Amino acid sequence: MNADPGKPTVTTWFLEQTAPDDLREARPPEPSADVSVVRAQVPSADFSRFLYSSVGADVEWTDRLAWTYARWREWLERPGVETWVAYERGTPAGYIELDGATPDTSGRAIRPGRSVEISYFGLLPAFRGRRIGGHLLGFGTARAWDLARRWPDRQPTNRVWLHTCSKDGPHALRNYQRRGFRIFAKEVAQEPAPAPVEQDADPAAPAVPGPGRPEPSQGSRPAEM
Ligand SMILES: CC(C)(COP(=O)(O)OP(=O)(O)OC[C@H]1O[C@@H](n2cnc3c(N)ncnc32)[C@H](O)[C@@H]1OP(=O)(O)O)[C@@H](O)C(=O)NCCC(=O)NCCS
Repeated sequence: MNADPGKPTVTTWFLEQTAPDDLREARPPEPSADVSVVRAQVPSADFSRFLYSSVGADVEWTDRLAWTYARWREWLERPGVETWVAYERGTPAGYIELDGATPDTSGRAIRPGRSVEISYFGLLPAFRGRRIGGHLLGFGTARAWDLARRWPDRQPTNRVWLHTCSKDGPHALRNYQRRGFRIFAKEVAQEPAPAPVEQDADPAAPAVPGPGRPEPSQGSRPAEM
């Protein structure tokens, strides 16, 4: 790609844990917040789209805004995909999505089929800064490590990985590192072009309008650190 000095660049960091003992739990939120984390076991395109668009609104998550209902369902219904939701006194505060279904695209799949990607994670803006995010990340990472207990056809997890970029929240990278994730690769790239809006084959299903951008790393192997 030729560099265009007029276009902003985005830095993407790739992080991993390679053993359950790597995980370092966060201090829990205040008991008065009454935070619970529950798995949304019924795949719901509406609920997942609500979480994605609400958490990502101010950090420019746009690639899935273009997804149709059919695409959401197809994604969520795959064995090994889980959505864990944090609630503060019964109100959705944030979520972590685990993807144990997609082949590892990071170039580090030591034994294929055993790595789990934290595909999305974050809090709605009103819930940030009160130790819910650290707690949810620790909880969700532990669920990535024990994913095979809930999916009997799966081999035990041997690696949990994710990527985060300079457009995510200012404390995102530090939170991952404090929970025991290590950077294994870094990529600096110019902003990709917006993804095209998809249309459902079913004309009764509402199209999801809005611009999109492709995942910063999907399908590409990052440079090793
Ligand atoms: C990143 C995010 C999940 C953090 O959640 P949070 O509830 O605000 O953070 P917490 O209060 O639980 O703190 C968690 C960690 O973040 C870091 N952090 C949070 N606030 C911080 C601050 N003011 N200064 C420095 N570090 C801070 C710390 O490392 C902290 O862990 P530690 O106390 O063990 O060191 C949240 O801000 C968020 O959802 N942001 C938008 C979406 C996003 O960036 N998602 C993640 C990237 S994909």
